[in-house]
Amino acid sequence: MVIKAVRGFKDILPSEIEKWQFVEKTAREVYESFGFSEIKIPILEKTELFARSIGEATDIVEKEMYTFMDRSGDSLTLRPEATASMARAYLEHHLYTRDPVAKLYFIGPMFRHERPQKGRYRQFYQIDVEIFGAAHPMADSEVMVMLMEFFNRVGLKDVELQINTLGCEDCRPRYRKELTQFLSENVPKLCADCKRRLETNPLRILDCKVETCQEVIAGAPLVIDFICTQCAKHFEKVREYLEILNTPFVLNSRMVRGLDYYTRTVFEAVDPKLGEQKAVTAGGRYDHLMRDIGGPDIPGIGFAMGIERIVLLVQRGKETTRFPDLFIAALGENAQVKAFELANQLHLEGIRAEIEYEGRSLKAQMRRADKLNSRYVLILGEEELKSGRAILRDMDEKVQEEMSLGEVVDEIKRRA
Ligand code: HAM
Repeated sequence: MVIKAVRGFKDILPSEIEKWQFVEKTAREVYESFGFSEIKIPILEKTELFARSIGEATDIVEKEMYTFMDRSGDSLTLRPEATASMARAYLEHHLYTRDPVAKLYFIGPMFRHERPQKGRYRQFYQIDVEIFGAAHPMADSEVMVMLMEFFNRVGLKDVELQINTLGCEDCRPRYRKELTQFLSENVPKLCADCKRRLETNPLRILDCKVETCQEVIAGAPLVIDFICTQCAKHFEKVREYLEILNTPFVLNSRMVRGLDYYTRTVFEAVDPKLGEQKAVTAGGRYDHLMRDIGGPDIPGIGFAMGIERIVLLVQRGKETTRFPDLFIAALGENAQVKAFELANQLHLEGIRAEIEYEGRSLKAQMRRADKLNSRYVLILGEEELKSGRAILRDMDEKVQEEMSLGEVVDEIKRRA
């Protein structure tokens, strides 16, 4: 039996790659013009990093991480997200000494042992953006404006920006107390997981998808009614700056996030066309994450986009199967060597040329060129070789013409 990929781990095939490249290229263009620099971080981190940042009592840390002991007996984890790793890198390399504000982005795979379905995988790719060292509400609005500009440039006009605030360390305990009180009165209606969460992390209950829990949650008190004056002021400014920069948003006062590090602003970009997994981006502010992983108390704000979900929506850069630009059908050993040489010359000029290695019949080679969807075929036999000429066939127009071998490279370059 042929060995298959691991469940929830997906191959991205060449036919889909154009959309991926389009999404990544656009993100790089937009983010770099907003002053962000790319960073690369390792796939593995010490498990402790995620436990201390994302939170011990979250679904990710409790049941979704790929954690193992390595040969030195250290507990390591395949990163389930990038924010904690980027914060660790920022602290480890003292990036704050260069300038108090660091704007970074990262593109790469994340790993979570979730139940796979459309738009949800166990290995998935994120483009993650973070501003470290800025507590000002302008930073919150700036990342959201930039995100929406990305969606604009990739042609996704239906993506909606939803925002909320979760308060801070000062005001959240009051809310937590109120919420716990309310939930305790509704214990019989809660699922087994939420009954447990009531003890460990009552805020997580707001994220539960079980129907009976949803009914309870619908009547639960809202964070926004419990936030302190400073948090209210911060949130007001965030909205004001979004308006100044003409970025539409909607308030979603029931939005909570699956990671514990958030303080104040949280947001999601959603596209209803995706159904259940409709969040194409999620993010927010985390003013104490750095402190929680052992560093100074440096604030931060950022988001992560799920590339698979965006690719599902992107129209441009449709699935492509066109390869190569030119197929050289050679007949006879000498012609094959000439084809080999010509193809190399074309490769150096940036033209995708392909040859036949096995020296099959002209018919078989033409069939292959057709299957590869090559735009042009150059037919090169021993006769042509002697006369220094070859036949160039346009496979779309179904016309052909003879030309001198010396002209081929320039002619293909001209047409490509
Ligand atoms: P998150 O909400 O866990 O946040 O993930 C962000 C985005 O990654 C989601 O909105 C979704 O598009 C995508 N995503 C998450 N899980 C999966 C999955 N299993 N399969 C496919 N796509 C998925 C974070 O990861 C935070 N680090 C975001 C952040 C950055 N907050 C501040 N800075």
